[in-house]
Amino acid sequence: MLPSVNKINLKKLRDPFFIYKPKILKKSVNFFIKNFSGEALYAVKANSSEFVLKKIYELGIRSFDVASINEIKLVKSLFNNPKIYFMNPVKPRHIINEAYYKYGVRDFSLDNDIELRKIIESTSSAKDLNLHLRISVPNNFSKINLSKKFGTDGFKSKALLKKLKEISKKVGVSFHLGSQCTNPNAYKLAINKASSLIKASNLDIDFFNIGGGFPAEYFGLKLQPLTKYFKVINTEFEKNFKNSNTKLLSEPGRVLVSKSMSLIVRVDLRKKNILYINDGTHSFLRDASAHDFIYPVKIFNKEDKSKLRPFSFYGPTCDSNDFMKGPFLLPESINEGDYLQIEEMGAYSLSMKNNFNGFFSTPKIFIDEEK
Ligand SMILES: Cc1ncc(COP(=O)(O)O)c(C=O)c1O
Repeated sequence: MLPSVNKINLKKLRDPFFIYKPKILKKSVNFFIKNFSGEALYAVKANSSEFVLKKIYELGIRSFDVASINEIKLVKSLFNNPKIYFMNPVKPRHIINEAYYKYGVRDFSLDNDIELRKIIESTSSAKDLNLHLRISVPNNFSKINLSKKFGTDGFKSKALLKKLKEISKKVGVSFHLGSQCTNPNAYKLAINKASSLIKASNLDIDFFNIGGGFPAEYFGLKLQPLTKYFKVINTEFEKNFKNSNTKLLSEPGRVLVSKSMSLIVRVDLRKKNILYINDGTHSFLRDASAHDFIYPVKIFNKEDKSKLRPFSFYGPTCDSNDFMKGPFLLPESINEGDYLQIEEMGAYSLSMKNNFNGFFSTPKIFIDEEK
């Protein structure tokens, strides 16, 4: 059980801490399930906290996109019969073996012949595999590119798809058009590219997986509503897979959990328009540094109606790259000892922490069930 927000005592809390909002998580998950016409597999990497996973499962998502054996163990330890998709296209042989034999995983992704051989050999040529071919699609409208490292294309993909069809029980095609995608039409391009490859190979596939990429509402973005994304996806999927038995899948991470947590940090020093705070690049705010995400912020511990001005942040480590450009808009009177409430911190925050300079301990998390 998480302690209630009413138990927050700033004098006793030395480190950054989180406020978890289950009602907001419920709203995001319900909205996605209601409006997306296929099945959602939750991308565990976005936030693997037990209470988040349990809530998502309770709300009806029973399938999980995992990237490692530890994510498999976690999901298996929490639920009776979860459906696990091991969608990291590169996996060591002993992990494929353990996932298949010990944890009953049957769905694996891959993007090349060598990985296919690894999967076949590590499962003793199992006949009950569902193999998902990851193809590369343009990532032009996304903040984080996920097609440079993974994904096959063109002639190679057709040849591989034929092999998968011969070997596996069920076959899927998947892609990821990059995380934090701000243009719904990126899905149109990607769906049509993947569909052309499938048509050119003249094969029926069982799963068509459009990955994640749905955006969070970070500060200053003029996003189109999620319903627009779903409309584009639905239209393009219907157009390409009418009269087929192909099942539509997606792997949402960020969009489901981003709003469900706030991070509270302390200002330890102010130098003009730069605030030195107790979290940063090597911890929960990694993406504010690596991808210049601007999270909405406000003062946490007091009323301050002074004019807003733009600030940048430095984190607590000795690394000069421990810098978050922002601009983060905060009252101009802000100073040492103030606390900041950073919103939209549910995705890729807890999962990004390291221990550089010995700073970052496991954070305290409080629950806010009221609002
Ligand atoms: C294979 C895969 N699926 C899903 C996701 C989740 O994407 P997002 O958080 O953008 O929804 C990722 C993110 O890295 C991924 O690599």
